[in-house]
Amino acid sequence: MAKLNWGMIGGGEGSQIGPAHRLAAGLDGAFTFAAGALDHRADAGRDYGQRLGLAPDRAYGDWREMLAAERARADRLDLVTVATPNATHFEITKAFLEAGFNVLCEKPMTMTVDEGEEIVRLAERSGRICAVNYGYTGYALVRHMRAMVARGDLGRIRVVVAEFAHGHHADAADADNPRVRWRYDPAQAGVSAQFADCGIHAMHMASFVTGQNVERLSADTVSTIDSRVLEDDAMVNFRMDGGTVGRLWTSSIALGRQHGLTLQVFGETGGLRWAQEQPNQLYHMPLGGRLQVIERGEGNLSPEADRASRVTVGHAEGMPLAFANIYADMAETIRAQKDGRAMDPAANLYPRAEDGLRSMAAVFAVAQSGKADGAWVDARPPMFRAEA
Ligand code: NAI
Repeated sequence: MAKLNWGMIGGGEGSQIGPAHRLAAGLDGAFTFAAGALDHRADAGRDYGQRLGLAPDRAYGDWREMLAAERARADRLDLVTVATPNATHFEITKAFLEAGFNVLCEKPMTMTVDEGEEIVRLAERSGRICAVNYGYTGYALVRHMRAMVARGDLGRIRVVVAEFAHGHHADAADADNPRVRWRYDPAQAGVSAQFADCGIHAMHMASFVTGQNVERLSADTVSTIDSRVLEDDAMVNFRMDGGTVGRLWTSSIALGRQHGLTLQVFGETGGLRWAQEQPNQLYHMPLGGRLQVIERGEGNLSPEADRASRVTVGHAEGMPLAFANIYADMAETIRAQKDGRAMDPAANLYPRAEDGLRSMAAVFAVAQSGKADGAWVDARPPMFRAEA
């Protein structure tokens, strides 16, 4: 099968998320890393791109240069990943979609709800893929949770409890460090810090697993370190459109917590518990039964989990393999598009522009509610309120 051409913007040398994308895109052999504008410094980007194996004429110094050159090529890119800092996502994603490229954008997709609506409309008009990297939904057992909920194993879902709490910004003495400070400064970070950066992954996962969207929410947001304007800890209560009650805690001052993404789902006939730091085990408590441990890779899991597993049971799979499942979904979608055939439904799970937009609306709702002493506010983007 011919390989697909993949390119990347951002993710330069020393970046946090760039290596995870390169590992993930390369894992199944579906993509060739063919082009990149990897750094905000043109020379550093060109140099690093070539050291990673890009041809000199496809190691670009700037994303606009990359766009102009790639759109003219016969072997143009099949997928472009945007892994630059947040404030640039909208402009770059928009430009590449308009030029007819498929895009996988890092979260947050945009900085405002209006921009998010624009991307959703543009993606629809263009017929291109616009995916957003809520990559933790790529874990095999998260996909299995979704499948169990969808086939009714837990009955009606009563409550979902999500957390994303770490302790990496707990040191008050370090709060003025420029690498930390910008995250809590509205001029650079936008309306929310910890919820927008981390809590949103947990909220998206709650939607992904339950198959429900968040309708309204109430947030208690606090800055526990005085010099911070934006929140470093938040508790968010929410209600979903299928009737499920949601609870979410997110924090960056939770000393002792490392990554701290967890999800618990409580239905009428069973409960599930999963934690990102032990992603190969899922705890299932059936009503009236005994607590069971479901292992990633064991027999008789859902087709979605089987497709997302690569190594045999008992060997740990982790975060880059979860991201790799998003890339595997992309590869299957692009190939199905090219061949004019239906795609494998088990691959149709990647987060879309709509998810990026819903997340942005939730971020603004959390900020609004937090300022209004936890008042309940509508968390839906305006374009989906009209449809409801
Ligand atoms: P970083 O600051 O470590 O790296 C950013 C990279 O982008 C640098 O190499 C920089 O030179 C490059 N860059 C900046 N502006 C550019 C431009 N105009 N053109 C080309 N390259 C440019 O940032 P990090 O932590 O890697 O985050 C990048 C994005 O990934 C952020 O939007 C962040 O929210 C997201 N992220 C997502 C995660 C997830 O779990 N989905 C986890 C971590 C980050």
